[in-house]
Amino acid sequence: MERERRIFVTRPIAQPALRRLAQAARVELWDDDLPPAHDELLRALARADAVLSTVSDRLDAGTIAALPHLVAISNLAVGVDNIDLEAATRAGIAVGHTPGVLTETTADLAFALMMAVARRVVEADQFVKAGKWRTWTPRLMLGRDVWGATLGIIGWGAIGQAVARRAAGFGMRVLYVSRKTAEEIATGPSAPQRVDLARLLAESDFISLHVPLTEATRHMIGAPELAAMKQTAIIVNTARGSVIDHAALTAALQKGRIAGAGLDVTETEPISHDDVLLKLPCVVITPHIGSASVATRLRMAELAVDNLLDVFAGRIPRCCANPNVKLRSLQTS
Ligand code: GLV
Repeated sequence: MERERRIFVTRPIAQPALRRLAQAARVELWDDDLPPAHDELLRALARADAVLSTVSDRLDAGTIAALPHLVAISNLAVGVDNIDLEAATRAGIAVGHTPGVLTETTADLAFALMMAVARRVVEADQFVKAGKWRTWTPRLMLGRDVWGATLGIIGWGAIGQAVARRAAGFGMRVLYVSRKTAEEIATGPSAPQRVDLARLLAESDFISLHVPLTEATRHMIGAPELAAMKQTAIIVNTARGSVIDHAALTAALQKGRIAGAGLDVTETEPISHDDVLLKLPCVVITPHIGSASVATRLRMAELAVDNLLDVFAGRIPRCCANPNVKLRSLQTS
């Protein structure tokens, strides 16, 4: 008889999905919002056939090499930059992820950050709560218009396009850059316009990042790109922190080279409490919550479980980041 499959779940996930997983396998749950220490993770993974991981679990080549029995990594995220994909593929480990189900929720947050920085929502809230609101004055908390402005979207995947749909409702002109060579481009007077990066940087009032973190996109926004932006521009990052060179961004904001930033992701997470960015009123930072709605986190957990069950049924996960992997065989004893 086939022995029961063992899964290590590295963080508490939505209960219905966890219950479904527990019906199909023996689940060991790390029941804490803080991640297990690396040696703890390794110990748990040595006992497991598969892992349901999160973006804050680093599954690098060394870790993967130490786990000869692992057959699947199911990441509760669309991004898989926390996993060495090549090492996993070489080892015959399928890497599942959760695209699609989080698109609209993440686009909502990108828009929320853009609006928050442009209209100084966080600053204004803190002003009122600090008892500083004395009267209406024509000069109080002047921000920048989002409506009618030019939005530059870097990365024309599902989330970038979802942001563009929201922008249409605000009467924005949308420019975008895309790595894809051939794709359908909408036409019409207010359709998003594909441009090169230099033009997008020069013309955009708001710039929103929607690229995965790879060696090609690491620090793709550095000092030269920041210098090429309008002095009134606001940059929003809901992708990965390291797409922006943090030191260059800090310098650009401090010198007033650009007007503001809305960041859901930072180069180190969590960002250090004494980081200068935290002191700048023109910066709004949220703790990597792009997909954090109740409904979306449930959908992500269900999909992450489906991806694992696919592997236990001998299939490549339905949402697989390395679909060409040759699956290694499951242990039978
Ligand atoms: C979250 O950051 C994700 O990649 O889904």
